[in-house]
Amino acid sequence: MIVFDRTCGTFTLHTRSTTYQMKADQYGVLLHTYYGPRVGEGDLSGLIQYADRGFSPNPSEAHPRRDYSLDTLPQEYSTCGVGDYRLSSVQVEQPDGSQALDLRYAGYEIRRGKYALPGLPAFRGEDGETLSISLRDPGSGVEAELLYGVFEDYDLITRAVQIVNRGEEPVKLQRVMSLCLDFLPLDLDLITFNGAHVRERWPDRAPIRPGVQGVGSSRGMSSHQHNPFVMICEHDTGEDHGVCYGAALLYSGDFEAMAERSQFGDIRLVMGLVQLQWTLEPGEVFAAPEAALVCSPSGFGQMSRQLHRAVRERLVRDPCQGGRRPVLINNWEATYFDFNKEKLLDIARAAAPLGIELLVMDDGWFGVRDSDTSGLGDWTVNEKKLPGGLGELVSEVRRLGMRFGLWVEPEMISEDSELYRAHPDWALGVPGRPGSRGRGQLTLDFSRKDVREHVYAALRKVLDSAEVSYLKWDMNRCLTDVWSAALPPRRQGETRHRYVLGVYEMLENLRRDYPHMLVEGCAGGGGRFDLGMLYYTPQIWCSDNTDAIDRLRIQYGTSFCYPACCMGAHVSAVPNEQTGRVTPLETRGVAAMSGAFGYEMDVGKCGEAEKAVIRTQVETFKTHYRLIQEGGYYRLTDPFADPELTAWAHVAPDGREALVSIVTGSGHAAPRFRLLRLKGLDPDAVYRINGGAELCRGSVLMNAGWPVPPLRGDYQSLQLHLEAE
Ligand code: GLA
Repeated sequence: MIVFDRTCGTFTLHTRSTTYQMKADQYGVLLHTYYGPRVGEGDLSGLIQYADRGFSPNPSEAHPRRDYSLDTLPQEYSTCGVGDYRLSSVQVEQPDGSQALDLRYAGYEIRRGKYALPGLPAFRGEDGETLSISLRDPGSGVEAELLYGVFEDYDLITRAVQIVNRGEEPVKLQRVMSLCLDFLPLDLDLITFNGAHVRERWPDRAPIRPGVQGVGSSRGMSSHQHNPFVMICEHDTGEDHGVCYGAALLYSGDFEAMAERSQFGDIRLVMGLVQLQWTLEPGEVFAAPEAALVCSPSGFGQMSRQLHRAVRERLVRDPCQGGRRPVLINNWEATYFDFNKEKLLDIARAAAPLGIELLVMDDGWFGVRDSDTSGLGDWTVNEKKLPGGLGELVSEVRRLGMRFGLWVEPEMISEDSELYRAHPDWALGVPGRPGSRGRGQLTLDFSRKDVREHVYAALRKVLDSAEVSYLKWDMNRCLTDVWSAALPPRRQGETRHRYVLGVYEMLENLRRDYPHMLVEGCAGGGGRFDLGMLYYTPQIWCSDNTDAIDRLRIQYGTSFCYPACCMGAHVSAVPNEQTGRVTPLETRGVAAMSGAFGYEMDVGKCGEAEKAVIRTQVETFKTHYRLIQEGGYYRLTDPFADPELTAWAHVAPDGREALVSIVTGSGHAAPRFRLLRLKGLDPDAVYRINGGAELCRGSVLMNAGWPVPPLRGDYQSLQLHLEAE
């Protein structure tokens, strides 16, 4: 619910359990008064303290007041160059060369339904409401429209910003934040999700110190290194108690998420685009990507479940909605580039009787591609490997009762390719510089329409040649030497953002033209695991690391923002390709079925006993599909704090059914006794465990726990299926 109180100038956004408020004051400065657990009606600006602070300037309208400074007051959308020295939300170079921008309140509008952002990912839904607030710079033609989407039932507030140039000359945008959130003085922690290729999204928590700290990416992708999702919380906030905030940017390119603790202890969080150099001509509008905000009064668990539900129901567009996504098998780790039609069909023949439903042909099927040094850009079927083209292979796969999926990497080009020989200028690169390769390849200039159109037409030809039910859209290097042959020198700073918009346009076109095809995002695993991609690709390959034990940490970190149904997770062979670790097949299944489940191995090489395990895994996953994909996700342990026992649960919304997964670390003699406390159950219900004789009351399971039997050996696992009587 959005309430504007004319008498005091407050805009209050209420969701079921949170309140967000801002207020235009007597000088037209839009002050942020509160965001947190729900409070009643009323003007909360009394929380703001005014004091004469040395070296914090006072705007001329406030003269002779010295207790009024943009530098000390909580701002809804901070500006630059006119008195607030904290992190600015927007930075421009004005036509006169100055960098001053002062945004003052100019009007508002409240609308039913949630705003949309053409060309950009955004939460959607008629059940949302929109608040639009216009801010105007009295000294120039620059205006900012702040957009707020309120999804009351989801406890979700979205924000976006559009910068408009109403002046007569171009201005240069250098930085546009989608989100600025000021907190009144409090000791808070910042939690970020960091890592590397094959080690993505490990949480890191630290108190916010004086000065600026945060994360970002300048790699042209949201990156393996830092995720565009951060949390802010009180020092004592934990999984099940305490106030915490989650902020996510719906964007897949460069970003910054920065927190600053200022001289008087207040904290500002900003999130958005930096180093833009975007020329905004008179009359033009620049739309910054959307940011999503959630606040939980009772710990991280609830915050995650709020976000998960919103992402599943208001962001992801799932072509399998109402049905079930297929259990797939991917040939990558089984064959790498060394495959042909028969090898693939052998895998499919072994997989189909196990209940596996879709075969994905990964990298290597096109152009001349026997290693990662050639072929990217030539999206035509290599008939040496696949005689008869895609059509024949797919009909044979379908004859086995399976569907078919395909891997592509459309944004890339190998120098050793027909495409590069014909269009060397289609790759990003600065004239006169040799440029860097990543995985030996160059990046196509997706900021260019002609390049996109060519690649799209080539993809369409392939996709129209057979029934392709799934597409894996990969991206295997980050951007360097960013320079577009299609833009003049003064506009080169726009290329990186235009590239991301180009990727989004292609993905949207794919959705339009192939509405029943499931697209999985991928960038060397989880290098572009963000809410922007999830708008177009309902699932993302979580990590190139398929080791079950490493995955526990990666999936744990990922789960703070992203729901299980979005995390591509596969059972692979042992010793694991990335770590060399040997884990039981059962444990690999338990780890992988907590995501978008599949296999990444040649199941034809498995013995009968292993095949029986796989058959059971697939059945278990299918049986509990709704619970896993739509149930509430409960982190029962922290695998970083306690690697000896990792547990999590998917719990039905009414708490009457749950699937609990438990994985142990390395085995030890004389292990200590373990009780695992469950969560999210109905305290008064009595649960039957794994359909057996064991019955247990919810209150006992949640308060006292369930005694985990000692499991012999390394990396053991078990699953409990709980059903209320
Ligand atoms: C990336 C992906 C892998 C696989 C390879 C193919 O690394 O993450 O899953 O598709 O590319 O080259």
